Amino acid sequence: MSEEIAVIPGDGIGQEVVPVAVDVLDAVGDFEFVHADAGDAVKAETGTALPAETREAVEAADATLFGAAGETAADVILPLRSAVESFVNIRPARAYPGVDALRPETDVVFLRENTEGVYAGHEDDLSDDLSTLTRVVTSSASRRLAEFACEFVEAGRGPDGTEGFTVTHKANVMRKTDGRFRDAVVSVADERGVETDEELMDAFATRLPLYPDDYDVVVCPNLAGDVLSDLAAGLVGGLGLLPSANVGEERGLFEPVHGTAPDIAGQGVANPGATVLSAAMLLEFLGYDEDGQRVRDAVEGVLADGPRTPDLGGDATTEQVGDAIIDRL
Ligand code: NAI
Ligand code: MG
Repeated sequence: MSEEIAVIPGDGIGQEVVPVAVDVLDAVGDFEFVHADAGDAVKAETGTALPAETREAVEAADATLFGAAGETAADVILPLRSAVESFVNIRPARAYPGVDALRPETDVVFLRENTEGVYAGHEDDLSDDLSTLTRVVTSSASRRLAEFACEFVEAGRGPDGTEGFTVTHKANVMRKTDGRFRDAVVSVADERGVETDEELMDAFATRLPLYPDDYDVVVCPNLAGDVLSDLAAGLVGGLGLLPSANVGEERGLFEPVHGTAPDIAGQGVANPGATVLSAAMLLEFLGYDEDGQRVRDAVEGVLADGPRTPDLGGDATTEQVGDAIIDRL
């Protein structure tokens, strides 16, 4: 292994949890780390939240590990996702043993379209009274997402027992845009012989908390995936343990779902779990599946036996949890 990994801690607890994940990557592999800045602090210093060198480092790297940015989050994350040409955002939400979860049976992976929908950036103020937004859906991006979803399921990367995927949409109302999304996704799955079921996204939002066992892999348009995966986060015990991967054809950007946590930043007590699990996804993206699984097992072991950070009811520091994870590797 000598892949290049760009490392962008960002602001707040990003500065505390990313170094733990770098130590974990260093413990299992031999990577070249390239450090770069992004976020509020670098904006205060230089006037820009995403310096050109940072974007270039991300474009040059095989993969990027990102912490979080504060007020400038949108100015940082959206361009970084496009710098890796990410077409899918993978967001697993599962309740780990030892963690107090509202719905411990939850084990769901969201595959969220990552480039279009209402986040495509076509928003206008047309008058003092009127703002509009153009929603973008292409068959090509929808099909690309569906192909990824089929490969994901076929490769056994879904939760145990996954046989196909659920596609959520609102094609009964947004007939053209979500209709196009639904038709593209379902037709790719049909061509490949992958089972799908469809659910309107509002009904899904009711059913997921009631029957989490019914869902494994869920394919969503961009905004729906953002909201529904956060809903799932609430079911599994909060943000400290939720990783994510922004995957492109050549590169990937891996980041915890959480933000800078200003309420606990600087205290050294942030849970590094989400970022370390994001690093496990990075390892798998680079083809080191066994190492990714080792990291996941180490995190699970520490969650089950402790030490735990205060968000999980413990009194350990970020560093103590990081050391415990590395000891298990
Ligand atoms: P947040 O995720 O930073 O915090 C929400 C709550 O969860 C807080 O009580 C925090 O202490 C807790 N929390 C989050 N991560 C934790 C961890 N690893 N360990 C223990 N507790 C944790 O979300 P919030 O408060 O809405 O946003 C704070 C700032 O972060 C804002 O400036 C926002 O723009 C930014 N943000 C950035 C994101 C990114 O860079 N990807 C994503 C979400 C928010
Ligand atoms: Mg979100």
